[in-house]
Order: sequence, then C-alpha cells, then structure tokens
Amino acid sequence: MKALVLAGGFGTRLRPLSCTRPKMLFPVANQPLIDWTFRRLSEGGVDTAILAVNYMAEAIVRYLGPTKFDMGIIYSREERPLGTGGPIKRAGDLLKDEEIFLVLNGDVISDIDYRRIVEFHRERGGLATIALFRVPDPSRYGSVELDAKERIVRFVEKPEPGKAPSNLVNAGIYVLDRRVLDYIPSSRPASTEKEVFPKLAEERELFGFEARGLWVDIGIPEDYLIANQLLLSKTGAQMAEDAKIDKDARVLSPSAIGASVEIGADSVIGPHTSVSEHVRIGKGCRVENSIIFPGVSIGDHSSIRNAIIGENASVERWVKIESGSLIGDYAVIADSVTITQGVTICPSKRVEESILEPRQVM
Ligand code: GDD
Ligand code: MG
Repeated sequence: MKALVLAGGFGTRLRPLSCTRPKMLFPVANQPLIDWTFRRLSEGGVDTAILAVNYMAEAIVRYLGPTKFDMGIIYSREERPLGTGGPIKRAGDLLKDEEIFLVLNGDVISDIDYRRIVEFHRERGGLATIALFRVPDPSRYGSVELDAKERIVRFVEKPEPGKAPSNLVNAGIYVLDRRVLDYIPSSRPASTEKEVFPKLAEERELFGFEARGLWVDIGIPEDYLIANQLLLSKTGAQMAEDAKIDKDARVLSPSAIGASVEIGADSVIGPHTSVSEHVRIGKGCRVENSIIFPGVSIGDHSSIRNAIIGENASVERWVKIESGSLIGDYAVIADSVTITQGVTICPSKRVEESILEPRQVM
C-alpha cells in the first residue's frame, strides 16, 4: 500500500516558527511531527510513502532521506504550491498502478488504524473514504452530513458558525480509488475539499469512516500544545543522557528533555513540557505545558506557561510568557517583559515592553 502525505503549504498561525524548518519537522514530544505519522503508517502496512513537498523541501529530504521505519520514501516536488488537490494529481504517475492508496494531511497527528479504514473502504466500494472525528467546533474543518449507510451526502469546507451539517469533520485522512485522479484538474492549484469531495458526494461515491481516539491538527498554537501534551502522556518522561540538570532543579513528568540541555538551580520544568536540544534554562525558572525549540536560551527567574518558543529565541531575565503565546525564531524578549493572552511575536523581533492583549508583533 502507498500513502501520499501532503507536506507543503505554509500554515499561517505557526509561520513564525518556520524560519529554519518546515511544519513537518516541528517537534512534538521532542520528535519531528513527520516521525509520528510515518511510524503509524509503517505499522499500518504502508510500504512506500510519497511526500508532496514545496516549502523548505530540502530540509525534509535531508532529514528523512530515502527510507524511514522500513518504508521507502519518494519525494514529489512542486515548483509552486498546488493546494491540497494539485499534489495528488502531480503524484499521479507514482499512484496510477495502485488500485487504492492513502492520502494524509501532514499536519495531523492521530492513532487511527489505517488497516481498518482501508477495509471499510473496500466493503463500501465507493471511490473515496474520509476518516471523520467528532469535534465541538467544526468551523475550522471540513464538516459532513452522513446518511444511515455512512455515505457522505454533503461536504462543507470551513462552514460558517451555525451552518455546519454536523460535528463530524474531515480528519485529513483518505482512502482514494485511483479513478479519483480523474476528478482533479492538471497543472493548476486545486482543492480536494472544495472541488473534489462535493462532486464525489453528489455522485454518491463518498463514504465516511468515523474514528475515535487521538486526533489533532497542529495548525494553531493551542492545538499544537495539546498534541504535545497528549504524546508526552503516551511516551512518558524522556531525558537525554547528556542533559545537565542542576541537583536543585526539578523536571516534572511527563516532560521531554533533549540532548545538551542545561537547567539551572531551583528551576521547575514541566509537566507537559518539551525542551529541545541545546536549550539553556537559567536559575529559578518555571516552564510548564510549553514547547521550547532548539537553541533557545531562557534567563534566570523567567516563567513560561502554555507557550511556544521558536528556534534560537532568547528570553532574558524575569520575563513572563503565557496563554497560547508564540515567540518566533530568533526573537528576543528583554528583561522583565510580560507577554500574555495569545500574543504572536514575529521572527527576529526584539520586544522591550510588555504586551497584555492578543496581537501580532511584526
Ligand atoms: N504539498 C502541498 N502543497 N501540501 C499542501 C499545500 C500545497 O500547496 N497546501 C496545503 N498543504 C498541506 C498542509 O501542509 C497540510 O498538511 C494539509 O495540506 C492541509 O492543509 P491545511 O492548510 O493544514 O488545511 P486545514 O487544516 O485548514 O484544513 C484541512 O485539514 C482539516 C483537518 O485537519 C482540510 O482538509 C479540512 O477539510 C480538514 O478538516
Ligand atoms: Mg491543517
């Protein structure tokens, strides 16, 4: 079985973390996002993964190479972003000999059983099957109306509040028959959700497989933090052998501490915190439910809660960062600054004054 993973696209909210790495290589419980996906695919019987790449393709190729978790990896490159449908058409030559194949949004983490959705697809005999999860707010997703036979009779991408057909949403995990390739236009960007699925639904060829369990699209800071929490709870505590933790510092489980990390006296890290490699945390710091990218430095007595700090950013002393805030790569947060409530700081920005309301600092 082959799987096509959509690994391009920019993703707007987490963009400030993309100076040095594409979203697929963002750490989740201290492992690149793509590793979680690939491990599950390999366990699910996939032998070849095709990665549809554009933005920062080289970084992905360098990291993954030609094989991973016993799967062969083939790269399908786009010169310009082709949306969510165009990359499927572009990889058509690599897929045309397969009767059916899997397609995945690369920014989703889930523990879905791929064998079961494939089995379901074969039983129903439609041209496409979409994995569905139930969520409280469907407005950020594709929402569907199912009939009693699990056929999708309506697919609405990003429905306006109150206009969603149901709370069952497209998980970004599909089994497609190769004939679906004929529904996608060539040589222009195309949207599977807006152009292909509504048509397949109209032709009664689209089915929905409701799955339960872990499923998160990491596209916004709050959900990225949730994915990190859930996977840390699954993997338990991780501590690199060469991490230097002061004897008077504490790491609360579950947390992951990467290679060459240094943590000073009286600091408390965790729970639910991922600290990537080469991060330096000073004395008397508090870091809780947060994701710290590689090379970050955090000065003495600073506190970080529910936040994401991008690669090589510098948080100086007595700083406070909270509530879904996101600090871009290489940004500097000066001494005694407080940042709360969903603030986004753009890469390389130096912040000298506190920011207490949600906004983006360019
Ligand atoms: N190769 C390539 N080229 N990949 C792309 C491109 C592109 O031009 N544009 C987006 N992608 C990839 C993204 O990297 C992501 O992995 C996936 O396609 C989906 O794009 P997002 O931008 O993350 O879409 P979304 O999260 O708003 O909505 C999609 O996912 C939801 C589930 O998480 C839709 O499929 C919704 O219907 C769905 O509910
Ligand atoms: Mg997404």
